[in-house]
Amino acid sequence: MAEFTIAVAKGRIADHSIRLLNTMGVTFEQLTPSSRKLVFYSSDKTIRLIFVKAIDVPTYVEKGAADMGIVGKDNILESQADVYEVLDLKIGTCKFAVAGKPGQQLDAFQSLTIATKYPTVARNYFSRKGKPIEIVKLNGSVELAPIIGLADVIVDIVETGNTLKENGLVVLEQVESISTRLIVNKASFALKSVAIQSFINTFKQSLEEST
Ligand code: PRP
Ligand code: MG
Repeated sequence: MAEFTIAVAKGRIADHSIRLLNTMGVTFEQLTPSSRKLVFYSSDKTIRLIFVKAIDVPTYVEKGAADMGIVGKDNILESQADVYEVLDLKIGTCKFAVAGKPGQQLDAFQSLTIATKYPTVARNYFSRKGKPIEIVKLNGSVELAPIIGLADVIVDIVETGNTLKENGLVVLEQVESISTRLIVNKASFALKSVAIQSFINTFKQSLEEST
């Protein structure tokens, strides 16, 4: 029986997250790059690892289906999950931005139509600015929206900037910096405090050593 379960976001940060776990001595023998399996146990059987769609990681952790999670700040903000955020892993660094066609003045719009995979983040940002908006929720390729005329601008993640550039769009406003975080279920943090605290400390130490 594993001591605790860690939910890791599938996709871009998965490999890096596993490498970080490996550097702190946690290895998963059955884990191979081509595997379609979603549940793995560490070699010493103390940790159960589950691969979850990134946006669902905060939900798994909030509900206690996982004790901890490794996921981007973007998905933590979007999910609004009630969890402890205990470590910044300093990987998967990027930013949230409002992007659109070059020279676009956001003030010129009475109400902005925004295409995004992150409706909560977009709503919160523009409500802080007191700007009326309408959201078009998309699930990917949001850069298409201003080109095709589905929306005025987008709120999305910008990492290298290549996707914007190759689609003739630019950052109009920066919203927030993002990186991968370690999150913890609130009840687990209290009930399994020794195991979890020791995991966090080892993780922190190996992060400091690797930078
Ligand atoms: C993400 C994000 C941007 C792009 C940013 O899209 O939504 O489109 O990456 O990265 P860049 O600045 O380095 O180009 P993703 O590739 O995850 O695809 P999707 O939006 O279609 O899901
Ligand atoms: Mg995209």
